[in-house]
Amino acid sequence: MAASAFIKECPPDIKLIAPPENILDVTDKTRIQDVFDKYQPRVVIHLAALTDVDYCEEHPSEALLVNAKGTLNVGQVCKQNNAFMVYLSTGSIFNGESKEPYFEDAKPAPVNIYGHSKYQGELCLRTVFRNSPYLIVRSCWFFGGDEKDKKFVQQIKEKLEKKLPIYAAKDLRGTPTYTRDLAKAVYYMLSRSLDGVYHFANQGVVSRSEMVQVIADNLRVSRYELIPVNSYDLNLLAPRPSLEALNCRKLEKTGFDNRPWTDALKEYLGNCQFSQNKT
Ligand SMILES: NC(=O)c1ccc[n+]([C@@H]2O[C@H](COP(=O)([O-])OP(=O)(O)OC[C@H]3O[C@@H](n4cnc5c(N)ncnc54)[C@H](OP(=O)(O)O)[C@@H]3O)[C@@H](O)[C@H]2O)c1
Repeated sequence: MAASAFIKECPPDIKLIAPPENILDVTDKTRIQDVFDKYQPRVVIHLAALTDVDYCEEHPSEALLVNAKGTLNVGQVCKQNNAFMVYLSTGSIFNGESKEPYFEDAKPAPVNIYGHSKYQGELCLRTVFRNSPYLIVRSCWFFGGDEKDKKFVQQIKEKLEKKLPIYAAKDLRGTPTYTRDLAKAVYYMLSRSLDGVYHFANQGVVSRSEMVQVIADNLRVSRYELIPVNSYDLNLLAPRPSLEALNCRKLEKTGFDNRPWTDALKEYLGNCQFSQNKT
């Protein structure tokens, strides 16, 4: 869902090409090279991934093929063609045991296959670009996909609309991130020629159950049934790190103007359709 934000936020001086998966399957290096031959990109923002954490847990080979080998393929073709590569990674590469949001140099120790496969992607790029610049941007808990949104905010919106009870984890904490702010941050980093590893998420740390309350408040729904639970009770297939929050000071110190996730969510939900009777 981040791809649409990168299209919407693309600065006018950049010509953006966004080939769909049937044209560019990252597991097929020949097809990546074909796309390079056709468009000769100078910069590649690599967003393609399997992002359903429970699906990845059930399909580890496929997760590694797309998220790690796919990233290696894109990296190798970028290197051969002198294109600058940006890789979107995740706070899921950490084990969640920290008390504070993670800095860029914290030690990765993923607790699930998705996090493992994304971290393997990072390691592949470290090898491919040993002596050349590239950019890894780790982020967390996206919202903002509009009609393509399948993630937490959309799931909660649908439950509020249908007046269903909402079970949400009180022990999983993260930094929600508006995909349009993420896209702005990445374009900013490119404009400043930043490389290395950067964290970007909106400001603030929140649990999933607290997030439900903020979503409902924004949609002006006052009557709903929220049941805060421990993530263990949700019977999730993949274990989740209890903290995925990211410290973004490294980027903010360069002058990037970040904002609280609550402001970003308000803007996003203000633009969304919502059909429930607001009682
Ligand atoms: N979502 C989050 O909260 C989050 C947080 C931090 C970082 N990230 C990272 O940010 C990036 C974008 O995430 P997102 O939430 O926008 O993901 P998304 O909505 O799941 O989109 C990922 C896209 O990759 C495509 N894809 C899957 N396999 C592919 C393949 N073999 N070749 C080419 N394309 C393929 C998917 O196509 P189909 O739809 O056809 O499968 C989908 O369009 C990912 O790298 C993700 O790991 C996400």
